[in-house]
Amino acid sequence: MSAVPQVMTAAVAVEEEELEQTLRPRRLADFVGQERVKEQLAIALQAAKARDEALDHVLLVGPPGLGKTSLAYIVREELGVGIRCIAGPALERKGDMAAILTGLERHDVLFVDEIHRLNRAIEEILYPALEDFRLDIVVGQGPAARTLTLDLPEFTLVGATTRTGLLTTPLRDRFGMTFRLDYYEPHELGTIVRRSARILEVEIADDAADEIARRSRGTPRIANRILRRVRDVAQVKHDGAITTGVAREALALLEVDQQGLERIDRSLLAAVVHKFSGGPVGLSTLAVALGEEPDTIEDVYEPYLLQLGFLQRTPRGRVVTELGRAHVGAAAADDQLF
Ligand SMILES: Nc1ncnc2c1ncn2[C@@H]1O[C@H](COP(=O)(O)OP(=O)(O)OP(=O)(O)O)[C@@H](O)[C@H]1O
Ligand SMILES: [Mg+2]
Repeated sequence: MSAVPQVMTAAVAVEEEELEQTLRPRRLADFVGQERVKEQLAIALQAAKARDEALDHVLLVGPPGLGKTSLAYIVREELGVGIRCIAGPALERKGDMAAILTGLERHDVLFVDEIHRLNRAIEEILYPALEDFRLDIVVGQGPAARTLTLDLPEFTLVGATTRTGLLTTPLRDRFGMTFRLDYYEPHELGTIVRRSARILEVEIADDAADEIARRSRGTPRIANRILRRVRDVAQVKHDGAITTGVAREALALLEVDQQGLERIDRSLLAAVVHKFSGGPVGLSTLAVALGEEPDTIEDVYEPYLLQLGFLQRTPRGRVVTELGRAHVGAAAADDQLF
């Protein structure tokens, strides 16, 4: 079986980003699943519009690819306001945040991705901004220092993070609403795959969409990514339409197994089982063994393995469960077939 390179080239990354934009749901009604989140958000949106107020600040929490950024844009779209997007780690100086805040218009959305990675000084500027729509700026130094207070327009902060535990308490407390996004059910992902196929104008059999959905680790971004790779196989090796056979062939080529695990997920399990006799092994040791960042392991790979019950986090480290071991064993046996 040929290996598919894990590393994306810059060009591929740009293409992925553009396609992601195309496939992103624009309105709440296009956003599939997460019914409770949608219901609560719809009520809050309607109430804010009726009162002609800014929507309360919203915190979106969940693993990558479940729709946090999509929801931030949907909030903007539903409110009919402007949006400013920033990535937490990209902001370095207090002045950057001050400039962004003073540039906002009434009721705008300020979307801060990876909000847990804002530096502390910048975070502190946000507190009065969020609470009283006020910006306190210190001018001058030493005894001559004075604090200037600027009024800001009422705005809505939409913050996204992978885990609430990463946020400081004062910041967390300033959100009026916190929504946790869960992994999607296969039937919801099936709906997403069919919707994306329509947008991409590719014909897909119902069973093929369901097959992709089952193997997408509960994650819309993965479902869309697999769909695009399957579309390539359908186009290059077949007549363009995605049948169940084509979908299975492409999934095998991509080395996505029955549980939706990819090579890196299996390597993680195999490393714990073979190199650390099943665990417990500490996160940093595991990261070194895999050549990955600890954060990536914790935020990207582990959540779904935990959800499947293949892996456990214990105070002493990561442990692969019996189920996980069985999967590693089966995967090893499969590999020998090729
Ligand atoms: N509920 C949904 N319905 C339809 N498509 C969705 C849904 N959620 C996500 N998607 C699709 O998945 C893609 C990824 O979603 P999005 O970028 O919003 O995830 P994210 O949670 O912001 O991820 P990250 O944590 O990596 O920033 C979107 O481009 C969109 O096509
Ligand atoms: Mg995002």
